[in-house]
Amino acid sequence: MRHLETRWSNSLSRRQAAQTFAALVSSSPLLSAQQDPFRDHSRVPKLDELLTALDFEAVAYAKLPRQAYDYTAYGTDGEFTMRRNREAFDWVSLIPGASPPSAKPQTALELFKTKLDFPILISPSAGHLMLHPGAESATHQGATAAHTTMIVSNVASQPIDQIAAAGTGPLWFQLYPREDLTATRDTLDRAQAAGCLAIVVTIDQQAPAFERDLHGRHLGPIARRLPPRQPTAPNPYRISDRRLWYSWKYIDQIREMIKVPMLAKGILTAEDARLCLEHGFDGVYVSNHGGRSLDYAPSTLEVLPEIVDAIAGRVPVIFDSGIRRGTDVLKALALGATAVCLGRLPRWGLGAYGAIGVQRIVEILQAELVQAMVASGRTSLASIDRSIVWTDFP
Ligand code: LAC
Repeated sequence: MRHLETRWSNSLSRRQAAQTFAALVSSSPLLSAQQDPFRDHSRVPKLDELLTALDFEAVAYAKLPRQAYDYTAYGTDGEFTMRRNREAFDWVSLIPGASPPSAKPQTALELFKTKLDFPILISPSAGHLMLHPGAESATHQGATAAHTTMIVSNVASQPIDQIAAAGTGPLWFQLYPREDLTATRDTLDRAQAAGCLAIVVTIDQQAPAFERDLHGRHLGPIARRLPPRQPTAPNPYRISDRRLWYSWKYIDQIREMIKVPMLAKGILTAEDARLCLEHGFDGVYVSNHGGRSLDYAPSTLEVLPEIVDAIAGRVPVIFDSGIRRGTDVLKALALGATAVCLGRLPRWGLGAYGAIGVQRIVEILQAELVQAMVASGRTSLASIDRSIVWTDFP
């Protein structure tokens, strides 16, 4: 071949040239700045482009299989309580105030021998493997990096000792009561041997209904099926009946199996809160399961003050269901919560980015809490009280 022909045959084809040019242009920060990944779905946004916890939901939605997203998103029945959990935060106003000059925000606390940098923990939630291959181990790593505590679900995808070994941060454990006391003891022994510093006993969601799952009934294993109708069986109503036997006697029986503090999760009335104290609980966890237990139950923020009044400082009051922002955390603290937990948020973080997503979404809430505290003139947890809120619940 002559010199010119050789050069021509070794040169870029038009297609290669076009590809190279396209790659150059698409990697240019100028172009990426012009794209809005949240609007045009052009690319997965980088972690540092996510500014609020709410931003993570869109990324999790884009990245997760539909069943995993829906499992995280659903509330019971028509999802009224789930919406009301969010709306209730709009019915509470925060009163601004001047921060004392040079006061450094103080947000650390010790809760049941667990040292926390902020009064924000991770709620128990099921099956993290559906969200990320790292599963609960990745959530624990994210929680450790954000200096918070993860409450490991009784229906986690990984065994408790494996999760505990994945991170160095403190863990708590959530128990779903099981009628079989030997099986319950075994679960509790494992959790305590793995170093869990508190046990959270879930007492709500005794007959869960998953309407959103039923709409997706062809979607696969996560979609639940109605139990078969058995007119002669004890449960002819085709409702999930695994947990229809809960009793205070059971609580009294498991009390001696638990050497660490024991909390009751799912409390929505002052009366139940008082009963929890009578039955030896060391803490009350106000929750409506993120709107996943009884639809048309009140939002947790609405019932928090009456529960706090009934407890009267005797034990800590933990709060969850609906928190998305630092101002939400501050409102719950002002109405008397000792600390709050995040349920869907870490799931979005994990589904979107793995462990670092969990870390970042918790850190965003921590930073927003400080911002809200400073703007309301309360720079320490001890100084947060009802005087910084107006409530206008219907
Ligand atoms: C749920 C149960 C597993 O809310 O806690 O899905």
